[in-house]
Amino acid sequence: SSTFDFAGNLFPLSSTAGGASGYAPIGAPTSSGRRGGPLGGGSLEKHKTLTYLNGLSLIVGLIIGSGIFSSPSQVSSRVGSAGAGLVVWAVAGVLAWTGGASYAELGGAIPLNGGAQVYLAKTFGELAGFLFTWSAVLVLKPGSAAIIAIIMGEYLVRAVIGAEAETISPWVSKAVALVGIFSVTLLNCVSTRIGTRVNDLLMFLKFVALIFITVTGIVVAITGHTFTGEPTLEWKKHDWFEGTSTDMSAWALALYAGLWAFDGWDNTNYVVGEFRNPSRDLPRVIHTAMPLVILCYILANVAYFLVLPLSAINGSNTVAVLFGSRVFGPAGALVIALIVSFSCFGALNSSTFTAGRLIYVAGKEGYIPTVFGRIGFGDRMLEDSLSTQRTRSWLTKKMRSCVGDEDTGLFYTPVYALLLNCALTVVYCVVGEFSTLVTFYGVAGYTFYFLTVLGLIVLRVREPQLERPYKTWITTPIIFCCVSLFLLSRAVFAQPLQTLIVVGFVVAGIPVFFLRVRGRERKGMGDRERKWWQFWK
Ligand code: ARG
Repeated sequence: SSTFDFAGNLFPLSSTAGGASGYAPIGAPTSSGRRGGPLGGGSLEKHKTLTYLNGLSLIVGLIIGSGIFSSPSQVSSRVGSAGAGLVVWAVAGVLAWTGGASYAELGGAIPLNGGAQVYLAKTFGELAGFLFTWSAVLVLKPGSAAIIAIIMGEYLVRAVIGAEAETISPWVSKAVALVGIFSVTLLNCVSTRIGTRVNDLLMFLKFVALIFITVTGIVVAITGHTFTGEPTLEWKKHDWFEGTSTDMSAWALALYAGLWAFDGWDNTNYVVGEFRNPSRDLPRVIHTAMPLVILCYILANVAYFLVLPLSAINGSNTVAVLFGSRVFGPAGALVIALIVSFSCFGALNSSTFTAGRLIYVAGKEGYIPTVFGRIGFGDRMLEDSLSTQRTRSWLTKKMRSCVGDEDTGLFYTPVYALLLNCALTVVYCVVGEFSTLVTFYGVAGYTFYFLTVLGLIVLRVREPQLERPYKTWITTPIIFCCVSLFLLSRAVFAQPLQTLIVVGFVVAGIPVFFLRVRGRERKGMGDRERKWWQFWK
């Protein structure tokens, strides 16, 4: 099956969050060396190791990150009331779900690793796929890492100085965020083994934290007393829909904040090629993960609103700490602050892991300077001998070792790719702050989500005979496209500067594509590129 060859070829390292357990995180893991390797040409059928549960843990672990512990303020302060806030959370969840269902259809029809890049290239041509990778390297990956790092910093600072203390200078938490970014980069440069183990544990903690918040919130609301004995009947004081904003742009910005918390639903699509039974399991993963996460998030939000006054929620990026301190006093605040910052650290680590692989592949493809497609520090010899088959499978083994499959050496990681990612993340972290970055990330992300799902509709019309093992209800992609179009159009009015910067980044990719990719073709294509064209023609 040449399709699967291609999957491995284009994304030899396209990987998962690194946080999910139970499978080797490289495009074509087991025994690839002997069969020619993912860069060689053996069948990948053998390497299809992911099961339904792996997919579920991967995606749930990715989605539950910083958002549910920090976005509620952005949501409710913009729409003006608790009830409207809950509506936004539900809409954001359903939107993410329709997106996930649409991606599941694409993943079944085009069962290749690489996600949006592959689908966009198929529907709109290689330039579209390139622009996605380009934006992911420059905006999506570092932007999201910066958001997570900032939240981690804020929570850690809260853990130290206490939840209800006066607002502190953002630079203190930014400094902590920078330390986090540097340590995660270092960790990933050296080896990823430690991080992936830690992440499995963290996923469990996140769930426990969410369930804990929900249950205690409900208990407090019913008894009317916090666990420290103070009477509180906050929820009786709420007028759930009073003060609801009618400004559509405010609703759009609130939705971006909610969508941030649900983001990550597309991540199983990066590893479709590795599922044992993608057409069956991909939709199943989406249709269990999304309702589960939506339910958890809505319940957690209800718990926040039951215990805290709206004004307190609106004013805080660290609402979970506020919750802990109100319900359990300083000790509760400390525990929750620590759990959330660990959770963010894990998310940051996963994100860095995937970013490293993404940039590495982009470098290998010649999309960006090839230095970013190198393993280890300045290993010129390795690069030069890449053309021989033996070295290729050797390289594969090295890459496997660096993600913890086999332990054969330190620093056999995409060091330059990781450093680039680190530098960009630092920039976003220094110049941006939570609420603006969330919109910025949302605009960039939803531009490509929109185009990809639009591609699904285009494909239905253009290639009706294409085999689609899973076919979503046609209204699903239509709803997704309409709502994301609304979101994108509103962003232009609500935050023109961010939108302009996003557009600038994407457009800047066009000349790069023609210089680098087209130039490379004129010089004569390599093996992998030829396969690519054979596949599509
Ligand atoms: N939903 C996650 C959070 O709440 C963010 C996911 C970031 N996106 C990604 N593709 N890793 O923190």
